[in-house]
Amino acid sequence: MKAISLFLIGLLLLTGACAPVSSDKKEQTDKRIKELISQMTLEEKLGQMSQFDPGQLGGPENAKQAIKDGKVGSILNLVGAETINELQKVAVEESRLGIPLVIARDVIHGYRTIMPIPLGLAASWNAEIAEKTMAVSAVEAASEGIHWTFAPMIDVSRDPRWGRIAESCGEDTYLTSVMAKAMVKGFQGDDLSDPKTIAACAKHFVGYGAAEGGRDYNTTLIPEVQLRNDYLPPFKAAADAGVATFMSAFNDLNGVPTSGNEFTLKQILRQEWGYQGMVVSDWASIAEMIPHGYAANKKEAAERALMAGVDMEMASDCYAGNVKALLDEGKIDMATIDRYVANILRLKFDLGLFENPYTDETLAEKTLLAEKHKEIAQQAASESFVLLQNKNELLPLSNDISSVAVIGPLADSPHDQMGTWVFDGNKENSVTPLTALKAKLGDAKINFAKGLEISRTKSTEGFVAAVEAAKKSDVAVLFLGEESILSGEAHSLANLNLQGSQTELLEAVQATGKPVVVVIMAGRQLTIARELQLADAVLYAWHPGTMGGPAIADMLLGETVPSGKLPVTFPKTVGQIPIYYNHKNTGRPADYEQWTDINKIPAEATQHSLGNTSHYLDAGFEPLFPFGFGLSYSSFDYSNLELSANSMGTDGVIEVSIDLKNTGKYEAAEVVQLYIRDRFGSVTRPVKQLKGYQKVTLKPGETKNVVIQLKAKDLEFFNGKDYVVEAGDFDVWVGTNSQEGLHAEFSVNE
Ligand code: NOJ
Repeated sequence: MKAISLFLIGLLLLTGACAPVSSDKKEQTDKRIKELISQMTLEEKLGQMSQFDPGQLGGPENAKQAIKDGKVGSILNLVGAETINELQKVAVEESRLGIPLVIARDVIHGYRTIMPIPLGLAASWNAEIAEKTMAVSAVEAASEGIHWTFAPMIDVSRDPRWGRIAESCGEDTYLTSVMAKAMVKGFQGDDLSDPKTIAACAKHFVGYGAAEGGRDYNTTLIPEVQLRNDYLPPFKAAADAGVATFMSAFNDLNGVPTSGNEFTLKQILRQEWGYQGMVVSDWASIAEMIPHGYAANKKEAAERALMAGVDMEMASDCYAGNVKALLDEGKIDMATIDRYVANILRLKFDLGLFENPYTDETLAEKTLLAEKHKEIAQQAASESFVLLQNKNELLPLSNDISSVAVIGPLADSPHDQMGTWVFDGNKENSVTPLTALKAKLGDAKINFAKGLEISRTKSTEGFVAAVEAAKKSDVAVLFLGEESILSGEAHSLANLNLQGSQTELLEAVQATGKPVVVVIMAGRQLTIARELQLADAVLYAWHPGTMGGPAIADMLLGETVPSGKLPVTFPKTVGQIPIYYNHKNTGRPADYEQWTDINKIPAEATQHSLGNTSHYLDAGFEPLFPFGFGLSYSSFDYSNLELSANSMGTDGVIEVSIDLKNTGKYEAAEVVQLYIRDRFGSVTRPVKQLKGYQKVTLKPGETKNVVIQLKAKDLEFFNGKDYVVEAGDFDVWVGTNSQEGLHAEFSVNE
């Protein structure tokens, strides 16, 4: 198994690999890399810089020849320790220099044990559980031969029409940064060469989440001030957390495709941040500079990506076919190519692939779907659920309830509950809400009627049975939302109402007069104003993964208590998008006193320009639910907001504290959120910004003093020229969501 070619052993001895690990490991690795590069032909260098899907190489068998010839440095979309070992053997034992392959895969939210979608994980506001889910994903993927995942996706996403919002941590820069760090740590652990860890990839660099109109792959126009203040910080956090790789994106940013963007890749990532890891392009995004209209042909595309600093090309062959000509023409020099190859080899050394290129083929069986993994998946799902409404405290349902109608297309949809970006999960392993509720309450108490075959079904044929089920039950629980295929890459939507006849199904069930709980499973925030009117209770469960069913059943029955908070603003209607909490104030901010209601405008009213504010006549200015919102079965009281000082210097710290009391009946967790507002700046500042939070668990009646540190450095922003902490007056709020909170003021002095 651990056969290493004689050549490789020679090389390792020569370069000191067998020496005990010492503090100058990096120096040793660099030496080994240099030595290796000095022996490489240009073709072998370009091979290292190329990543292919086995399909592009004519299938795994044909791939062997290309690997033997040193034409492939990395493979994506290949799974199974045995298959991977077989190809690795060719790389290590049959290619001239024996350089191992690095095998990549989209392990986005779980490998076999599927975790909640990242948007759901973000709704947990629990970095620790996010880290654990990614550690599980890593150990499972590694057991199948994967070395490197294309995650976390940390594009700040403010448009739910964009299908990939499911894969993101939502609209907020700070929360995304916290999650980015946790997920990188989860995948990579403390040591990349540990066979239980895999390399992570911060993607998509950068601005992809701002696709115009939420249409995937679309143009992004982001002024530098906004780019640096809103979109870049999560990537900086990932870089600081030691993320091994970055992925350049598909989008053109201010006219320059991000895979050929010297400003973002060279100036910001390499020069300003000093990032030392490896950069891979997104799938064919180098070649896509041609349809973007930024390169006339593959040679120009290669040149632009090389000038920007993309080390490895995914899935297209612009590098392989054109670098020689670019070198001959003096457009690029060999030192640059060598630097890029070194970045790739360093990743392979750091992953320990030169020492341990193979995967133990007995590992997967012991690892995949381990009980502990499922427990983590269930806890993560549970913490991701957001209780949006609970009229008359309908939830939790009493455990000795005599009958429950389980209705809806997502009640028993093991495939859909896994969500988007699931390549290796099996629906057979999903536990659905129907199964879980039956297990908890006994078959006899459950009256199941799907009502609609899938979320898009228009036919109302199934309504009769659904209404019957409701009539003979004490309560109706409807599982509505969207199938997994309606979110994800290239799956944008222009309409965010529930698809098919789902709302009509809810209307029919509600008309029975039975209490109604709606559980929504979706890859994004949907426009559910009508459903809120019809339902008594609404629990937003995102796509919760393998263990979604038991997590939901436990919560409906009060064995767990909701603690998730929205990582995105919920619009009332699509026309309000983009709508996010940390917007600018404008010169005419909206308020109720000046809000013009469309229904109150007299016919033939004359237009005037005074007294107008920034709102929609027909949808107002408030969202359906604000960022950070989420109810509990318990209730919390915030009091005694205190600041350790009323002012600080530009390098100071203020401790902000409150007393949080659990005033309800349940032990429960609350996310205490701290927002600030910088009242004036050298550029206009957002009306609110999340700057810290703590998730705190309290017993009924218990009070805790919660302290959140606010550093002056946290108030820093880019003003068009510099990163500055500006002196001035600030507001601070501590509360349960971005719209409610205790308020105080402080100032920052020069
Ligand atoms: C395209 C996607 O944009 C990216 O996120 C993914 O990692 C690659 N394809 C590889 O599958």
